[in-house]
Amino acid sequence: MHVQALELSQFRNYRQLSLELDPHLNIFVGDNAQGKTNLLESVYFLATGRSHRINRDGDLINWYGEEAQIRAQVATRMGSFTMRANLYRDRRKRFIIGGEELRRQSDLLGFLNVVLFSPDDLQLVKGSPSMRRRFIDLVLVQTSKVYRHDLVNYNKVLQQRNSFLKSIAEGRGRRDDLSLWDEQLISYGTQIMLRRAKAIHRIGELASTSQWEISSGEETLTVEYLPFYAAEGIGSNVQGDFSTEGILEDFAQGLAANRTQELRRGITLVGPQRDDILFRVDGKDARQFASQGQQRTVVLAAKLAELEFMREEVGEYPVLLLDDVLSELDLSRRSSFLEFISSKVQTLLTTTDRGYLQEDRLCDFREYRILDGRLAGEG
Ligand SMILES: Nc1ncnc2c1ncn2[C@@H]1O[C@H](COP(=O)(O)OP(=O)(O)OP(=O)(O)O)[C@@H](O)[C@H]1O
Ligand SMILES: [Mg+2]
Repeated sequence: MHVQALELSQFRNYRQLSLELDPHLNIFVGDNAQGKTNLLESVYFLATGRSHRINRDGDLINWYGEEAQIRAQVATRMGSFTMRANLYRDRRKRFIIGGEELRRQSDLLGFLNVVLFSPDDLQLVKGSPSMRRRFIDLVLVQTSKVYRHDLVNYNKVLQQRNSFLKSIAEGRGRRDDLSLWDEQLISYGTQIMLRRAKAIHRIGELASTSQWEISSGEETLTVEYLPFYAAEGIGSNVQGDFSTEGILEDFAQGLAANRTQELRRGITLVGPQRDDILFRVDGKDARQFASQGQQRTVVLAAKLAELEFMREEVGEYPVLLLDDVLSELDLSRRSSFLEFISSKVQTLLTTTDRGYLQEDRLCDFREYRILDGRLAGEG
């Protein structure tokens, strides 16, 4: 799929912007603080309903404006349609697709799929587990309606169970009633974990192949799902039996093992909100042993796997948003990456320095100069 045209109004430092995009490679060049990331953020927002870097939507509206709009013409194998997001300071944001307003924000996912690769992602291997969960969740919410649904419900149950635990800790709630919440927690939680296990397995296979190619056959990458109970040594699943029954059983065991703690602290300590992913290079935990360069390769391999996985699930590649990450890679890694993407995937790439791309063999591309929230050359 690809974005054919993009229009911004009062979004971040853009007062008004209108662009036609190339179906392959688009390069946005500009100095620091001109609006390059803002532009990628607008596409990310239209795809996912939120910003990748802030939580308060109001901050996305131009400081001197009252409401912001993002509009895109999107082409997929199902056809071409317009997508629009409107942001207000005093009202809920709205999403309109093909002229029809969405009732729920979660319905937005799946129309325009994106993969974002920003400098923050270089922390994927070493950063906190929440980064790795966000990585797998973003893939899954975009490709599976069922997963979206389960995740929304799981989070609701989790919240309710937390406030119930709190009320027990404060002497108001009855312990016996907790089992009602346990049941739902396990039921939705198990569905989430099943899907994560499957997806991480497949993404792991794809990433291994990429790693092998990028490192010219020198490094093997394996990717493992670490369900929350693995850290406590619970379950057959530490060895990787991710059947429904296996997960159900281990989930229940984890719940039982944490019962006293949960009641005392008044908060849920078990569940997929504590899952993690383990990357190994040549069999060794990459978090501890991988060099900077190896970590970068792992992230690159994971991103390629993400693209490929989404194509397998959806039938076409998502749009790739590359925020100034290529300059961090050496020429050979960068070349194999660009070679792969530029022919198949619509890419929006930002950079401050156009120079290094001269060395790369690129397919046709379109170049834009961003200057202070405008396209340079425009009035
Ligand atoms: N709501 C807003 N209204 C107006 N301007 C804003 C708003 N939010 C952010 N900005 C401005 O947008 C500018 C550009 O931000 P952006 O992150 O896109 O820069 P960039 O081109 O990616 O720079 P860098 O190369 O340093 O990453 C910043 O100077 C910031 O002050
Ligand atoms: Mg930036």
